[in-house]
Amino acid sequence: MGLCSNAALPVDREAFLREPELLEAWLRELDPSRLEALWQAADRVRRECVGDEVHLRGIIEISNFCVRRCAYCGIRAPNSRVTRYRMAEEEIVACAAEILSAGIHTVVLQAGEDPALDADWVARVIRRIKQLGPIAVTLSLGERSDQELRLWREVGADRYLVRFETSNPELYQLYHPPRSDGRGRDRLEMLRALRELDYEVGSGVMIGLPGQTWADLANDLLLFAKLDLDMIGCGPFILHPDTPLGNRDIAEVEGLASKIEHASSSGHAAIAPGERRSPEAKWNTPEETAPAGWPPNAGPEQVPADELTTYKVIALSRILCPWANIPATTALATINPQMGRRLGLRRGANVIMPNFTPQKYRKMYQIYPGKAETITTSRTILEEVLAAIAAEGRSVGKGPGTSPNFLRRKRMAPHP
Ligand code: 5AD
Repeated sequence: MGLCSNAALPVDREAFLREPELLEAWLRELDPSRLEALWQAADRVRRECVGDEVHLRGIIEISNFCVRRCAYCGIRAPNSRVTRYRMAEEEIVACAAEILSAGIHTVVLQAGEDPALDADWVARVIRRIKQLGPIAVTLSLGERSDQELRLWREVGADRYLVRFETSNPELYQLYHPPRSDGRGRDRLEMLRALRELDYEVGSGVMIGLPGQTWADLANDLLLFAKLDLDMIGCGPFILHPDTPLGNRDIAEVEGLASKIEHASSSGHAAIAPGERRSPEAKWNTPEETAPAGWPPNAGPEQVPADELTTYKVIALSRILCPWANIPATTALATINPQMGRRLGLRRGANVIMPNFTPQKYRKMYQIYPGKAETITTSRTILEEVLAAIAAEGRSVGKGPGTSPNFLRRKRMAPHP
């Protein structure tokens, strides 16, 4: 035997924090038997730290208006192919009531960065939802001011999700043009503010964004631990044809060319087969200019936007942040509708977020094409999710499913 190159790498939190290079090594790992050790370690930590319950979160996509121009996202402001909608207060409250009556005790209000969802209106919606019964409210409304975040916390919002998307500042800049009115904010700074305001704090990244290297992704994972996140949501990047990434040049980046064909022919994207570039699908329109360094290219270090890498990220996140709530995301279910969620649950995840957006709006919330659940009804989705949980031998979480990481932090905090 002797020392050999295929000796198993350590798989524990302390080792990862001591030797961050291990994270990159695990991310690059392809050997199935060695990966099995990673899945088992993550599943053990998951069972010991957050238990067998799978918590459900009912998502309502309340508005697809967005003032931002994130280069990967299908509902970015310049995409004129999107029909924009904003749900009425009554519709949102009715939808939340439906979620509660399905036995789900968390609603997630998600939207583009839409300034018309003003502070007082959102506060009223939160108050009304909280009056429905024992229900936690999670907000995912983009970059917002401290005043707004404070008000919403005061009226009963419990949690906030804002992904930092990538820990690489240059890559972040390339994808996120600043808000023209200067009202955007640094997401890391916002995450700290949310923590100060006593929210349960969630963040995450996309996996396989063009330009993202293995080292970048390893740094993302380390940052999850450093931020001491209560919730971590990560999914594969999925190419949207009506974005600056949806053109031929970037499609030549390894592995992306076939996906763009798929997006075009699946019937979900508003793009004719064979037509690869829509008028909106490029910078350099009268309103937009490509930033210097576009398109991003990580060459051989490019992380693939695939299922396997997503499972590795879920598993490593679980080991690094043992008490966090970690969903098997909709993007994962989109790239593998049969097994994505189940394998996510098996490899570290403990949350699923079924979509309850009313049918008529759902297809308009295409941040990426083919989004799982744009076709089926909320009922069907819920049945599928419950079946997946049962098939994995897990139970459905009762109550609000507060992040054990948040509860630990509270318990450890000195009492006022
Ligand atoms: N593919 C995958 N995920 C995406 N998101 C936005 N656009 C895409 C895409 N094309 C993710 C971002 C955002 C979250 C709401 O959805 O990470 O924070």
